[in-house]
Amino acid sequence: MIVFTTPPHHYKERGIFTQDYITIALPKGKLFGLSTELLKKVGWTAEGLHEKSRKLVITNDAEKLKFIITKTADVPTYVEYGAADIGIIGKDVILESEKDVYELLDLGFGKCHLMMAVPKDKKRPRLEDYSHTRVATKFPHIAEKFFVERGMQMEYIKLNGSIELGPIVGLSESIVDIVETGTTLRENNLEEIVHIMDATARLIANRVSYRLKFDRINNLVNELEKFL
Ligand code: PRP
Repeated sequence: MIVFTTPPHHYKERGIFTQDYITIALPKGKLFGLSTELLKKVGWTAEGLHEKSRKLVITNDAEKLKFIITKTADVPTYVEYGAADIGIIGKDVILESEKDVYELLDLGFGKCHLMMAVPKDKKRPRLEDYSHTRVATKFPHIAEKFFVERGMQMEYIKLNGSIELGPIVGLSESIVDIVETGTTLRENNLEEIVHIMDATARLIANRVSYRLKFDRINNLVNELEKFL
């Protein structure tokens, strides 16, 4: 008869016997594929974790991992409240959410920048000339901070997607939005007039989870660093 007195070495290393499941929040959309690809390299994956799945919770019982798939803007919320221990999300979304989470790692992918753009034929000479006009954006908090720092008062119109449509149909004069390749701006005759901030994907953690599940989360950070 075989009697195990200690857990197998690799289990102990990963803290699997001493700690509970780790829940990882992943955003639908552009960052999903890149995030799962990176996590897979360090063995953090689960059967059925792919873009086409409609399942919202995907579990790997052997490794005690639980992946939850959320709307992009909601990742910081799940992590702040501890419904997810960790998450992967863009720096732009973290700042906009104003959630209190630990930022553990810059993952380097998902590079983009936040900027202000206007229709090419409606450009004004100076940035201040847009004061008191309407700006359509998914990022009203970041935008407001940016304009207030420049002494500009603006009217913010919160949209949830296809922001570029705002000035085309006369809803707003300008947009504050993300640019990745620049294709959307070009195809809609918009021109960037001011750069606001750069962003990449980040690994974030809930403050309490980070302390309670320190071994596993810290191990993940160390493993991921080897691939960055
Ligand atoms: C983002 C962003 C722009 C577009 C920029 O939108 O809001 O519309 O990508 O990318 P590009 O510079 O490569 O063209 P997303 O595709 O996430 O959709 P949404 O606007 O509906 O949220």
